[in-house]
Amino acid sequence: MLFSFVSLLARFLALATLSSAQTTTSSTSVCPSIVSDIPILTTLSLTAEPTRTFYQFLPPAYTGGPSQSALPVILSFHGASRNATEQAGLDRFWDPVFQGSTPYIVIYAEAHKTTWEGTPNIIDNDTGYTGNILDQINASLSIDSERIFGSGKSDGAGFLNVLACDTSLEGRFAAFAPVSGAFYTFNDTTAGTPTESGGTCNPAVVDTDLYLSGDPPVSHACTPTATVTLNGTPTVVSRVPPILEFHGGSDTTIPYNGGLGRDNFCLPTIPHWIQQWAARDNLPVTNTTSAITSEATAFIFGSGTTDGLVMHVFDGPDVSHSWPATFLNDDNQPPGCGPFGGGDGNGDGPASFNATPMIISFFNEWPRTRLT
Ligand SMILES: *[C@@H]1O[C@H](CO)[C@@H](O)[C@H](O)[C@H]1NC(C)=O
Ligand SMILES: *[C@@H]1O[C@H](CO)[C@@H](O)[C@H](O)[C@H]1NC(C)=O
Ligand SMILES: *[C@@H]1O[C@H](CO)[C@@H](O)[C@H](O)[C@H]1NC(C)=O
Ligand SMILES: *[C@@H]1O[C@H](CO)[C@@H](O)[C@H](O)[C@H]1NC(C)=O
Ligand SMILES: *[C@@H]1O[C@H](CO)[C@@H](O)[C@H](O)[C@H]1NC(C)=O
Repeated sequence: MLFSFVSLLARFLALATLSSAQTTTSSTSVCPSIVSDIPILTTLSLTAEPTRTFYQFLPPAYTGGPSQSALPVILSFHGASRNATEQAGLDRFWDPVFQGSTPYIVIYAEAHKTTWEGTPNIIDNDTGYTGNILDQINASLSIDSERIFGSGKSDGAGFLNVLACDTSLEGRFAAFAPVSGAFYTFNDTTAGTPTESGGTCNPAVVDTDLYLSGDPPVSHACTPTATVTLNGTPTVVSRVPPILEFHGGSDTTIPYNGGLGRDNFCLPTIPHWIQQWAARDNLPVTNTTSAITSEATAFIFGSGTTDGLVMHVFDGPDVSHSWPATFLNDDNQPPGCGPFGGGDGNGDGPASFNATPMIISFFNEWPRTRLT
């Protein structure tokens, strides 16, 4: 079923203000008390080399019996220096309040050296790791291969851009929802061509058809593909991945307007980056603009059957490098506070809406079959 723009937005508005059970604040101490109700995640080791760990959440609807229906899956990628448990506390994809009537299996991946491929000078083969996770859960669980989705925060969201561009893996993911993404790319020369060193970082025009990997960083073209069955034969076709990005106006870690980031690599402005995805997905780069709340705005690309294929949500001028939530979380709480004592709260406080149910709604609407 296709959603019209109006019904899509109505759905977003209904979901965006849903609140989770988790919200307690204390005015007497410097740090608010946040109830840590994260479910125990099952720790699993990859059987493929290199052996790395990942974490699994199965919803109550997954009993694993012979009549078990295939469930959709969200793979979630934490930000730099964070881990799987901390990401589960931020994204709450496992929360039945946010899952609503569609149970999701949630898989938390964990970076080998605290951050992900696509971040300058990170050499880990995280694309291979992700493919191996998909192989392993496909072999051990009843998963719906048409509904495998990727989400994540910051450098983990930047890695989603790597996955979305990757010729070996993108076709296995149906859609992506990066939050506060770090979308590193190469500088331009004065002639406008990408350069691996020197040049200038022009965030509003920089070539985002490239992504980084390796140490030293090397460039890869962004050429999404998928293998589909045409007339009974598996065939590689170009693919237009649905993408929904969220970004805060007062993000100083990965600024909304881009600029020089880690190791002096260039970050695009978020409007430029999302418009480049609209173009790559064969959509006009013009958008329909709609208020989510008095502070947050959705920019929607596409029309007709592609309505909302590419979207960006401006979280609001006061939202920092934080996962948008109407309650306190590890990101938006004061610096130095947290259920994990991580000391990495941004201090911007609750946002005007919740990103999580909007992401789940977006995933519900974009199974891989809708595009091929
Ligand atoms: C990354 O890992 C995958 C899966 O193990 C492997 O097929 C691929 O060749 C590796 N890529 C590189 C560049 O090492
Ligand atoms: C799971 O395995 C089946 C059978 O080999 C395959 O058709 C499907 O594409 C796989 N799904 C994923 C997500 O790898
Ligand atoms: C990118 O350009 C900026 C100047 O705009 C420069 O300071 C920076 O070092 C360059 N980055 C790289 C990796 O060469
Ligand atoms: C959406 O369109 C408006 C009006 O043309 C423009 O000002 C804004 O920058 C666009 N936003 C994005 C994210 O493309
Ligand atoms: C993540 O880090 C926190 C400390 O911030 C720790 O309590 C938790 O056990 C770690 N989780 C994993 C999966 O390593």
